[in-house]
Amino acid sequence: MKRLEGKSALITGSARGIGRAFAEAYVREGARVAIADINIERAAATASEIGPAAYAVQMDVTRQDSIDAAIGACVKQAGGLDILVNNAALFDLAPIVEITRESYDRLFSINVAGTLFTMQAAARQMIAQARGGKIVNMASQAGRRGEALVAVYCATKAAVISLTQSAGLNLIRHGINVNAIAPGVVDGEHWDGVDALFAKYENRPLGEKKRLVGAEVPFGRMGTADDLTGMAIFLASEESNYVVAQTYNVDGGNWMS
Ligand SMILES: NC(=O)c1ccc[n+]([C@@H]2O[C@H](COP(=O)([O-])OP(=O)(O)OC[C@H]3O[C@@H](n4cnc5c(N)ncnc54)[C@H](O)[C@@H]3O)[C@@H](O)[C@H]2O)c1
Repeated sequence: MKRLEGKSALITGSARGIGRAFAEAYVREGARVAIADINIERAAATASEIGPAAYAVQMDVTRQDSIDAAIGACVKQAGGLDILVNNAALFDLAPIVEITRESYDRLFSINVAGTLFTMQAAARQMIAQARGGKIVNMASQAGRRGEALVAVYCATKAAVISLTQSAGLNLIRHGINVNAIAPGVVDGEHWDGVDALFAKYENRPLGEKKRLVGAEVPFGRMGTADDLTGMAIFLASEESNYVVAQTYNVDGGNWMS
């Protein structure tokens, strides 16, 4: 049996990477999925590759009008909203003495405010529908502890874990489950960018940091986006109805908590 049959899902930042893999998995499980991304061309290409159950929506999670329009598009195209995945995020890296306010504002605006206000708009829609809902926030192992060069991104992901706890406690009375996934290191375009930043600040050849972090994972390699889809389906399905305000590590054993 398909586990998300007839459900309407919105996944932010799903034109590529982990969000795209979640969209493919949700469609396989019977959902209609909004591929919501700031990059509308790529979102449209992704949606057409996935098939008719996916549709592209232009969305900038830093703008309230864009958040409201994206939720409205789900209502129009799929008759409502049952599942939200707050997946869009930005990474940056710098030693403490080089962090800029611009980088801080940009990361907090997408990773934290974007998550909170998209969650709020989705919750309002789900409460109005009165049939519960599922919200999955993308945290990170970076939110479990600091990293010397990654202060701002780590702080945004710690905030995502905290928001998941508060929203989870607040929204369960409406039958809305809010939980999060904390991946470790996941191969893809995102980590290519991370690798390039480490190469610059740690004076390494390109590709070396990626190789090292992969070798350090207890499982023996970096994760793939597909390694995360089982948890993403579980947290969006009826099977997780009694799971509230939790953040699950899906990281090959990198972190235990
Ligand atoms: N890749 C990893 O190793 C890893 C590890 C831990 C956590 N995560 C988290 O998982 C999630 C997905 O990561 P990924 O590797 O697929 O990232 P990615 O960079 O490949 O994809 C992010 C997507 O978000 C979109 N986006 C950027 N700004 C946006 C905005 N303002 N509004 C809407 N969309 C926007 C981008 O266009 C892109 O399609 C993120 O929350 C990330 O922090 C990733």
